[in-house]
Amino acid sequence: MSSRISLTRYLVEQQREHGHIPAQLRLLIEVVARACKSIAISVNKGALGEVLGSAASENVQGEVQKKLDIISNEVLIEANEWGGHLAAMASEEMDSIHVVPNRYPQGEYLLLFDPLDGSSNIDVNVSIGTIFSVLRKVNNQRGISEEDFLQPGKQQAAAGYCVYGPQTTLVLTMGTGVAMFTLDRETGSWVLTEDQVRIPEDTKEFAINMSNMRHWDAPVKRYIDECLQGKEGPRGKDFNMRWVASMVADVHRILTRGGVFLYPWDKRDPDKPGKLRLMYEANPMAFLVEQAGGLATNGRQRIMDLVPGKLHERVAVVLGSRNEVQRATDYHLNPPA
Ligand code: AHG
Ligand code: MN
Ligand code: MN
Repeated sequence: MSSRISLTRYLVEQQREHGHIPAQLRLLIEVVARACKSIAISVNKGALGEVLGSAASENVQGEVQKKLDIISNEVLIEANEWGGHLAAMASEEMDSIHVVPNRYPQGEYLLLFDPLDGSSNIDVNVSIGTIFSVLRKVNNQRGISEEDFLQPGKQQAAAGYCVYGPQTTLVLTMGTGVAMFTLDRETGSWVLTEDQVRIPEDTKEFAINMSNMRHWDAPVKRYIDECLQGKEGPRGKDFNMRWVASMVADVHRILTRGGVFLYPWDKRDPDKPGKLRLMYEANPMAFLVEQAGGLATNGRQRIMDLVPGKLHERVAVVLGSRNEVQRATDYHLNPPA
């Protein structure tokens, strides 16, 4: 048991090795991990904790909020306000940014989160999660505003998620690979269970919401149609399909055994670039996937190169095993004449 590596020890040793975790960033990661532990406790209580069902409110995207969306958002805000590591926070569940109140010292970092990903799975007891992204406050000349958050994903200092499933797992990158920690409920500690996670370059498993097929664009139709043709088709192999409808769970499977995940633009709402949110979902997942050797694009460009125009911007997402993402992206960039 003495060989177990806790999250705290991992962060200390990473700092010794790479020198890339300033004290404020370490505190930030530890505080987010602690908040996730508290969200996990609420999730586990379920009906006994009266946390299931909808709240009587909508978020900025016009989605009905679940009670756990609001609880998780509050847990993350309260945990992160007072430590002096943050200047401000932004969340999928808040219309505008939350600046750290004057009574607390202002830190160097900006934290963005999807407090509860997979909301439609809460009440049916299927894996859900929390996704987070960390940016540095670049401009020190003035107070903090939404503009400070509009940085491309490649500038993230750290990113990760926690999946509340059969196990509670925290997955983290600070730009030197991806590590996974499993929550030991008996000791309350996060234990390192996978280091330097790698996504296989090839896969036979895709994840997409097939019910939207009739709304897809030609390159996505072509890519999925070829997968569906299996051994007899141009790909010469049978594919399997999985769709959890919680991005955290789908990405966790891909980090564990490979696969490709697509939430493409579609014709249901042609003015929106996609369903998923660039800053709270796509960027942090793209950072993790790239750090594990995979790729993440919007069908045409690398997700982490996109410069956000607004906080709640949406984006199309293709991510996972390198060769499949490359193929789906090629189909968009070089459609047959
Ligand atoms: P959220 O619960 O934070 O709104 O995110 C849900 C997202 C994502 O997790 C998932 O991949 C996708 O929506 C599911 O979409 P469908 O409802 O189209 O399956
Ligand atoms: Mn989400
Ligand atoms: Mn959410």
